[in-house]
Amino acid sequence: MQLHTSLVIAILFLVSSCFAVKDYLFKSCEQNGFCHRNRHYAKEITLDPNFISPYSVSPESISIEDSIIKGIVVKQLPHIDTSVEFPFEVSILCNSFHFKLDENRESKQQVVNHQRYNETVEWAFVDGVDTNREAKFNKDERSIDVSYGHNKVTIEFHPVKLTFFHRGNEVLVVNDKQFLNIEHQRSKEDNEDNVLPQETTFNMFSDNFADSKNDKLPLGPESIGLDFNLKGFSNLYGIPEHADSLLLKDTSGREPYRLYNVDIFEYETDSRLPMYGSIPLLMAVNAHEALGIFWVNSADSYIDITRQQDSTVHWMSENGVLEFVIIIGESPQKVNEEYGKLTGNVQLPILASLGYHQCRWNYNDIKDVLEVSSKFDEFEIPYDTIWLDIEYADNKKYFTWDSENFGDPAHMLKVLNRTGRNLAVIIDPHIKTGYEVSDAIVSQNLAMKNNENEVYYGHCWPGESVWIDTLNPKSQSFWNELHKTFMISDEHKNLFLWNDMNEPSVFNGPETSAPKDNLHYGQWEHRSIHNLNGLTYHEATYKSLIDRLPTQRPFILTRSYFAGSQRTAAMWTGDNMSKWEYLKISIPMVLTSNIVGMPFAGADVGGFFGNPSGELLTRWYQAGIWYPFFRAHAHIDSRRREPYLLGDPFRSYVKDAIRLRYKLLPVFYTSFHQASLTGAPVLKPVFYDYKDSTDDGVYDIEDEFFLGNSGILAKPVTDEGAKQVSFAAPKFSNENFFEFTNGIVSGKVYHDRLSAELSDVPMLLKGGSVVPMKNRYRRSSRLMRHDPYTLVVALDKNGRATGNLYVDDGESLNSEYKLLTFIVDKEGISLSSTGDYAFSVSIEKIIIVGADFAIDTVSSGRVISESEKITIVDPKEFPVKFGKGSLSHDEL
Ligand SMILES: *[C@@H]1O[C@H](CO)[C@@H](O)[C@H](O)[C@H]1NC(C)=O
Ligand SMILES: *[C@@H]1O[C@H](CO)[C@@H](O)[C@H](O)[C@H]1NC(C)=O
Ligand SMILES: *[C@@H]1O[C@H](CO)[C@@H](O)[C@H](O)[C@H]1NC(C)=O
Repeated sequence: MQLHTSLVIAILFLVSSCFAVKDYLFKSCEQNGFCHRNRHYAKEITLDPNFISPYSVSPESISIEDSIIKGIVVKQLPHIDTSVEFPFEVSILCNSFHFKLDENRESKQQVVNHQRYNETVEWAFVDGVDTNREAKFNKDERSIDVSYGHNKVTIEFHPVKLTFFHRGNEVLVVNDKQFLNIEHQRSKEDNEDNVLPQETTFNMFSDNFADSKNDKLPLGPESIGLDFNLKGFSNLYGIPEHADSLLLKDTSGREPYRLYNVDIFEYETDSRLPMYGSIPLLMAVNAHEALGIFWVNSADSYIDITRQQDSTVHWMSENGVLEFVIIIGESPQKVNEEYGKLTGNVQLPILASLGYHQCRWNYNDIKDVLEVSSKFDEFEIPYDTIWLDIEYADNKKYFTWDSENFGDPAHMLKVLNRTGRNLAVIIDPHIKTGYEVSDAIVSQNLAMKNNENEVYYGHCWPGESVWIDTLNPKSQSFWNELHKTFMISDEHKNLFLWNDMNEPSVFNGPETSAPKDNLHYGQWEHRSIHNLNGLTYHEATYKSLIDRLPTQRPFILTRSYFAGSQRTAAMWTGDNMSKWEYLKISIPMVLTSNIVGMPFAGADVGGFFGNPSGELLTRWYQAGIWYPFFRAHAHIDSRRREPYLLGDPFRSYVKDAIRLRYKLLPVFYTSFHQASLTGAPVLKPVFYDYKDSTDDGVYDIEDEFFLGNSGILAKPVTDEGAKQVSFAAPKFSNENFFEFTNGIVSGKVYHDRLSAELSDVPMLLKGGSVVPMKNRYRRSSRLMRHDPYTLVVALDKNGRATGNLYVDDGESLNSEYKLLTFIVDKEGISLSSTGDYAFSVSIEKIIIVGADFAIDTVSSGRVISESEKITIVDPKEFPVKFGKGSLSHDEL
């Protein structure tokens, strides 16, 4: 019964006409005990010029062994002659500075693990991150210097202060403002003696927020806070997920950015409210350096930003150890690379997952799925994966198929497979009570517990549910078996998975999530692990898929994510509305995800809620082809809007846009390969390449971007009625940018504006680039495998160009591969390659623009020579020599 009620309420919610964000459901900083207290503390300190911090490093405590500094930070309490000790550790990991501070706490009760949670790092980092033994240390009574690479850090003991220098320049001072705050262990009874005069006791032992009143806060106040002062940096990025600008805003006097994974359906744009995922990596960039602050903490967190010439970042978390990594490099790319060494890079996706995904809540039955599928073919629109939302399962009991409508899933998979198509189905972490899966979770003790250490029951889509606790290592083999059985025989390799609602979303929980005093494996409070809960879930799924098919790259889409999620899943930005502003904000959101090492990202094309106009939907598809993860999705109450259903001319524009994505698949795949090695963005913000421009405007650009290192610059149209766009990047470059609208290069150099009628995907190609495309229409990416390439060459002002092409089997883990580099100059086109993958690249066409020299002879091809545009059809031989010379033949 309750099931029914909650469902009805949820649906009423979703279709309510105003669509205002339910922000009363979410705590503001003011309402959230630890944020309120840390902001208060910071304010009091700022107002008091005579403030002396109670924290200092004890000089006698310092030891340096195996390139690790160990020591103790002491906090002097004011009212009593007592101090509290916090052991800390400093080391250099790879090329980054790592700091960790813990507290020795007494065990006062049995149920809750009383230690500060210190395992965030185990989930976020890859295995085997090395301590750098080359670091040099230099200690005296008042400080220690740590030198590594081009960096030096001075750790002062009193007041505690860490000053970072890069090539001699001061770039960062940690605790410059003395906001360091560690709420040490105390009991409610002796709290008075433990509070500093600058502190407030607001909500230290109870929570007065309406939906959180039951939070027992068994360990009392435990928050941590610290300030980071970025010297000479006013451009800050990262810390997703927020529906906000690319460049982070000053939060003085307003809500700080919050990181707390929640199911915030119908979010507002221009908002610091939390969303489905969080990555606590902030990147600061100026003309000389880039700097990453990686706050290794998975608890509820807020970040206050004062944006100035020297910006201040005040980071606050509800609990956990105080742990952070500072990454300093010459460029944003360097920060990505170092961050990737710690947390891993995006896995090279299975090629099919870079194609177009067609989703809807819901396709009704197998017949519906197969009809939709064949409609795509009838209208010659390619797609790779069709998706099933929660209704495919029997009464939303995951790991079952509804027997009436999805009685023969093997048949469905087989038919889809004939055209190289895949099916993706949803498996959520809430498991309906009253069937064998939830029974087993309870009996095998694998469920998330409530604050009394009993199984936690809450409400979600299926009604009353339990939640699998994927922090428990024992959950893995159980999860493996479930997937093995559910996913039918191993013969079916075309089944992908979607892990939704893994924040976790709990309809009757505080802030739509699990109570913070719930318990997980290890008796850790949910409070401590909340932001990585989603990661543990999709990682468990990933391992189950590997267990089932050990050689195939799994595909998983997750809604909730954390630092490290890039290794095993793609993300999307959640439940969007079919409005222009959501289309617009999707671009900076996806770019931010790319900046913080999670490039496999996208937004629901068309918006989740509502019915977009033909124009909006067309523009959304034209933007969506650039999302690294390209999926259309729609709410159950929205009208059907599969591309073939659109009236003309929208249908043909959308078809062309999707086909353009397929033409560019080699470029996406090559960019992902690069990302998988270096952590580089797949959609690259303009400032990555032009940060040393004298024009500061480069840092604000959030509506155009490069596709990896391909030289393709795109700027989606996100304004109703717009008929042209103007690009910003070309003015920062000495190179020509050639018009490349709809993937068709012209010899025309871009100036000022580009026409962008509704039929147009506006894009440019930077001089110096070689872009490999596959221009033939096929029904799916798998069927394109043996298609020949077209090379689009835009020469730079010196008559040169280079470009890469990565090729492998598209689906195996550790597949053999070949990485080709095309080099074009006045002599001709040559090629170098690495890797052993045996395959043949055939080039059916080469188009060259920007040549100011004659290209009048090529192999056996027909040459069409215009002044600026040379098309070479069917060069059978490669490399190609220009001019009157002969050709060498090379079997590729
Ligand atoms: C966390 O702390 C416990 C207890 O001090 C220790 O045994 C464990 O190794 C620590 N884990 C990490 C990842 O530091
Ligand atoms: C799916 O298609 C592939 C290649 O077209 C084929 O090798 C495989 O056997 C098919 N799988 C099934 C279950 O039909
Ligand atoms: C998606 O919709 C949500 C509201 O449900 C909104 O907050 C968010 O900004 C939208 N995302 C994008 C990328 O449009």
